[in-house]
Amino acid sequence: MDGQRGNWSSNMGLILAATGSAIGLGNLWKFPFITWENGGGAFVLVYLICIAAVGLPIMMAELLIGRKTQKSAVGALKDAAGPMWGIVGAWGVLCGFILLSYYTVIAGWSLFYFSKSFGWMVSGFPSGMAMGDLFGEQSSNGALQLGLSFGFSIATVSVVYLGVQKGIERIARTFLPVLGVILVLLLFSALRMSGSGEALVFIFQPNFNELEPVAILEALGHSFFTLSLGMGCMVTYGSYISKTQSVVKASATIVLLDTLIALIATVIMFSVIFSVPGMEEQVGGSTVGMLFISLPELFFTEVPLGRFLGPLFYVLVALAALTSTISLLEVVTSYVIDEHGLARQKATLMCGGTVFIFTILAAISFGAVSGVSNLVVPGAIGETLFGGKIGWFSMADHFVSNWMLPTGGFAVTIAAGWFMTREDTMNELVDGTQPSWFRYGAWRFFIRFVAPTAIAAIIIAVMIFGVDFS
Ligand code: PFF
Repeated sequence: MDGQRGNWSSNMGLILAATGSAIGLGNLWKFPFITWENGGGAFVLVYLICIAAVGLPIMMAELLIGRKTQKSAVGALKDAAGPMWGIVGAWGVLCGFILLSYYTVIAGWSLFYFSKSFGWMVSGFPSGMAMGDLFGEQSSNGALQLGLSFGFSIATVSVVYLGVQKGIERIARTFLPVLGVILVLLLFSALRMSGSGEALVFIFQPNFNELEPVAILEALGHSFFTLSLGMGCMVTYGSYISKTQSVVKASATIVLLDTLIALIATVIMFSVIFSVPGMEEQVGGSTVGMLFISLPELFFTEVPLGRFLGPLFYVLVALAALTSTISLLEVVTSYVIDEHGLARQKATLMCGGTVFIFTILAAISFGAVSGVSNLVVPGAIGETLFGGKIGWFSMADHFVSNWMLPTGGFAVTIAAGWFMTREDTMNELVDGTQPSWFRYGAWRFFIRFVAPTAIAAIIIAVMIFGVDFS
């Protein structure tokens, strides 16, 4: 039964919903690009180590805080670590709010490319179409951008409105298998392309000469984003776990699936890219370049059966993004429900509506309205907080990726490792029995020492050396 706050119907419900949150544009849009930028294999290896040594322990910490307190971000951190920790929860809610406001815009682009590629599937790919121009035209078309992000926001709000089991869990149960099937289809087709061998070598054969030290921090920073950590999302999802469900198994499965999907997506994209002579030189430049400029054309000109696989690929991107936007809105909404006593339906509409006001700003950041596209915070503050970025979208992305997620993640490690007692955390992870070092001590060591030290390095890199992870 959906209780007053709602809860997952089973461990599977949690795993699917949390995996849906984790798998998103981070896997399909950001990870392949940063792997490309950082020279492949060695970066992937470092990323895998970051996921295991920092991502997994924090995933367990967030889920256990949620399970223990049965409250969303603000209330959970207060209950688990002390009244002052409510601020960290609130920081997470704010982060979810901002991230959702611009994430929705990129999600909207996937709808655009789905409809375009569907049209090309039916009527043929227009020869000589300049994909860079198409991208520029669509992203600077204010009315189109508002329409696409509005459509996506409505879909997100509708699911959260229906609640934990009837909305979020049901969507994840339906869409995740579809996403898996599409991905496997694309993978098989990619592996049959001539460039797949080169792609596999690039992704899985480490060459440490290619690796810059800062790439290690970039891998670490991305592990937060991709696992939906550092902003109370997994605390909130953990609060819907019943006391009989295992945090450890769920965490391991979510982390594994997210990593697997990121790697598969990368194999698919790079197989396509390496199959076209000279394409490597054209791909670089920007994250959007790969997903929305290079790939659409390649699907229609190079990939066997690409006219069918192209539209499918953009459905995949849209579904992955939707299960993530749902979780972002849930963080904000559940805070309003728990801390301000609003009914879910009212809270969802209120939060969804307020976030959309900021989505409008992000949607018109790509040339539609010059005041927003050219927005800049001058001076040292603008440089430090927003990396000197221009336009609302880029500023928000910079602030979230470089400041909010790492500081939020750092705070969670301190709360779980240093402020919660050994008994508190042990009870949630191993349910009262005296465990071996591997079943509990290892986690405690990583959450107390390894994870905070690693994240402190990110924060120092951003603060002192101005490194940019967005
Ligand atoms: N994990 C998502 C992705 O990889 O695209 C992004 C995200 C979703 C981050 C939800 C944080 C979050 F709470």
